[in-house]
Amino acid sequence: MLPLRSAASLALRLALAAALPAAAVDAPAPAAPAASPAASSAAPETAKGKALADQSCVKCHGTEVYTRADRKVTSRDGLERQVRRCETALGLRWFEDDIKDVAGYLNSHYYHFK
Ligand code: HEC
Repeated sequence: MLPLRSAASLALRLALAAALPAAAVDAPAPAAPAASPAASSAAPETAKGKALADQSCVKCHGTEVYTRADRKVTSRDGLERQVRRCETALGLRWFEDDIKDVAGYLNSHYYHFK
């Protein structure tokens, strides 16, 4: 019979193997430090803002509200306020950084405020 500790360790390894992609479990050590993704030309916070917006901000309106002729947001500050308003209405409980990232993404992609 297996000692309890190796049984637990086996269970843990199985759980890890199921939870992680095979490469993460099998690879000895990453050759380069993962600090610089550099794959995308977009700033990381813009990419994160896009991911958040794509995930949470398309239920009521699409991206057309950001570019419509009579859009409500008319300043960089106003954009952040509107993101906060919609985020609060949704009850997402984003971190301050998330709101800034999404406002930054919407600005760099749609609004282009200085
Ligand atoms: C519960 C529905 C709902 C969701 C989900 C939602 N919004 Fe909104 N959003 C609105 C409404 C309503 C307006 C105002 C539309 C209007 O005035 O015609 C609006 C307007 C906006 C505007 C202003 C558009 C303009 O006219 O310049 C921005 C920016 C915006 N939302 C961002 C977001 C972001 C970011 C998210 C995700 C956190 C989000 N919205 C999710 C309801 C929503």
